[in-house]
Amino acid sequence: MFNKLFGKFSKDVGIDLGTATTLVYVKEKGIIINEPSVVAVNQKTGQVLAIGVEAKRMIGRTPAHITATRPLKEGVISDFEVTEQMLRYFIHKIHKDSFSLFPRPRIIIGIPSEITEVEKKAVKDAALSAGAREVYLVEEAMAAAIGARLPVQEAVGNMIVDIGGGTTDIAVISLGGIVASQTLKIAGDKLNQDIINYAHDELKIVLGERTAEDLKITIGSAYELDEILETTVRGRDLTTGLPKEITVNSDQIREALYASNESIITAIKETIEQTPPELISDLMNRGLVLVGGGSMLRGIDKLIKEKTKVPVKIIDDPLTAVARGAGIILEDLDKLRSVLVQMDYGEVPK
Ligand SMILES: Nc1ncnc2c1ncn2[C@@H]1O[C@H](COP(=O)(O)OP(=O)(O)OP(=O)(O)O)[C@@H](O)[C@H]1O
Ligand SMILES: [Mg+2]
Repeated sequence: MFNKLFGKFSKDVGIDLGTATTLVYVKEKGIIINEPSVVAVNQKTGQVLAIGVEAKRMIGRTPAHITATRPLKEGVISDFEVTEQMLRYFIHKIHKDSFSLFPRPRIIIGIPSEITEVEKKAVKDAALSAGAREVYLVEEAMAAAIGARLPVQEAVGNMIVDIGGGTTDIAVISLGGIVASQTLKIAGDKLNQDIINYAHDELKIVLGERTAEDLKITIGSAYELDEILETTVRGRDLTTGLPKEITVNSDQIREALYASNESIITAIKETIEQTPPELISDLMNRGLVLVGGGSMLRGIDKLIKEKTKVPVKIIDDPLTAVARGAGIILEDLDKLRSVLVQMDYGEVPK
């Protein structure tokens, strides 16, 4: 009764707890937080020094006792306490900005598909203790498909491929459920590492993680480009140990990324193989939808289409699909309740 009354005044919130980025969607306002999932901790005192944008700036630039870490790695929660603090920080931040006069919000959180029951409960508890009135969980692939406005509840096959920072989540969804899926720990972070390794082995230069990511975004590609792109980067010369600037081109970066892109293609093919035949014809007709930051790599859509024979669509705003999907679920909870994650410890969302 009271919850119903509160519901009229409180705002609903959708959160995409991503490996690289955390996004917060507030009903009627849209995405209001978009910050790196990074936390800087003083190891001597255990004190959290910075979260989000500010903490990311510290990566690779901190003294030894301060670590700027990413509490989610490869799509799983590697440091639970820090994840909880990060979640709490973001929830408090929206609370401060928009909820001060309102009762506590209902929150829906997109979670990686491979997290354990204990972690699910902990994510939920963290959100509750950070001020949520009700908390629901949804698998990121499902939220992404809903955010991409795919008809997930109809009896048709919908394929979604979310290339994020830590994982590539591939899922075929029909009638509100995931019928075939695969999660691959090869995504944006791995591509950055591929570039670091290539630079080390082939160009004899040591690059930082952020430089590698910049290279990927400015000249990276998965498919041969019409025009070769070129840029200069700075790193440390492997032989002299001194700073060095070199010119790198898009063919070199594509070569560096080749094996990882092939792995993504293989996983998509395997997921198609697991898909019931009736749904495969839907995939051929409707195509697969690419979301996540990795979908912005030049030519990745072309490569997937060529290798899998399935048409590929990239949506307009691929980075926010999960958060928007979570928001859409909350706006129509009665209709979409069946897509939520059911918790194993006996509690079914009301
Ligand atoms: N233009 C671009 N080209 C290639 N990669 C890009 C581009 N823009 C962003 N990325 C990459 O996208 C990744 C982040 O994507 P996204 O925000 O979808 O991940 P996430 O949701 O935080 O991670 P996950 O879903 O794995 O938990 C980063 O690795 C980033 O380097
Ligand atoms: Mg994601």
